[in-house]
Amino acid sequence: MKLTSEEQKMLGGEYGKTVQKCMKVLVALGDIYGAEHMIEVNNVHSPGVSYRVTGDAGLNYVKEASDGTVFKIPTTLNTIGIDYENWEAMEYPEEFAHKQIELSESYEKMGALCTNTCTPYLVGNVPMKGEHIAWGESSAIVFANSVLGARTNREGGPTALAAAVTGRVPAYGLHLDENRKGTHLIKVEMELKTDKDYAVMGYYVGRLVGSAVPVFEGIKERPRLESFKALGAALASSGAVALYHVIGFTPEAPVKEAVINGEVETIVFGQAEYDKVSEKFAMKGDIDFVVIGCPHVSINEMKEIADLLAGKKIKTGLWVCTSRQVKDLGERMGYVQTIIEAGGEVVCDTCPVLSFTLDRGYKTVATNSGKMAHYAPGLWNLQPIMLQVNECIQAAIDGKWGV
Ligand code: F3S
Repeated sequence: MKLTSEEQKMLGGEYGKTVQKCMKVLVALGDIYGAEHMIEVNNVHSPGVSYRVTGDAGLNYVKEASDGTVFKIPTTLNTIGIDYENWEAMEYPEEFAHKQIELSESYEKMGALCTNTCTPYLVGNVPMKGEHIAWGESSAIVFANSVLGARTNREGGPTALAAAVTGRVPAYGLHLDENRKGTHLIKVEMELKTDKDYAVMGYYVGRLVGSAVPVFEGIKERPRLESFKALGAALASSGAVALYHVIGFTPEAPVKEAVINGEVETIVFGQAEYDKVSEKFAMKGDIDFVVIGCPHVSINEMKEIADLLAGKKIKTGLWVCTSRQVKDLGERMGYVQTIIEAGGEVVCDTCPVLSFTLDRGYKTVATNSGKMAHYAPGLWNLQPIMLQVNECIQAAIDGKWGV
């Protein structure tokens, strides 16, 4: 790989051992993918920050790197394993919480911004079209590539850390024009009204296309930000989609010809396909737990939830997961208090997938998220049901669904 003189200095150890080690990681990665050179990146969103995922090996790796190293570019942190300010009340095991705090503080020592969210684009990390970045967290990556038009591969903890330290990533994959074209045309033959409808479509398409680039045709109304968020998260969890286009609405696809050249495979998504996914995540009976906020909720979603809960009491557990910044705003607006008065919890910094498994005896979970529905059985042994937000709240109030 051709390196600039600055990059050669980094590789040669002129800036210290950690920078050298990071550059070695990036060069090795570039060699694997046939990259011809490095690209300068403007910011990082770092995954691998939940102690549940990293364990001691990851914690020690980051602690070692943090000894005197400072991040070269702005770096936000993904969702962690605890609610930083509320972990004791939530009964997290002390040892787990302390290890998580140690991990988070190591990142912060290097200059990372402790956003602790999978929606960095809702709290100020908003890259622009064509901007090269190094992001981890599948739902954030797909949002950055597709909705913002920025360029990132799927970075893991060590490569994101290496990018933050060096300001570089190897030039391959979605950084290059030729890999950003559509590979599948998805003909949308039904009207999508809610964020959950987009999540259902994402779940269906992700399973079929894997890590390819689907192009959605036939969507007539501009999806709201939260619908894009739901679509991407589901595409990236049932499949491994890191980039999609919606003709007429996402920045690289003003018209079909901009993203599709020649013949590509066509997939139809209509009522029958919608019903197939809905049947998979259908259930009648008692609901124990409701999770909204996978990815973390926006302030709009928090308001919707608060409006639905105003003056009501719930019978289930309810987690509304969000970033601390959105929670702070929600507190100022009174939304958080309304949710808590109804019996729910507004959980910050973490989520059920990345936090320590709290055994509260739940067996079923209602969610509007395709990602949560996908992971709930394997991670928490919970039977999931996918509902719209208003239905999730009704299920929480009634403690049951469909009976
Ligand atoms: Fe975010 Fe956790 Fe879902 S990180 S996307 S809330 S699995």
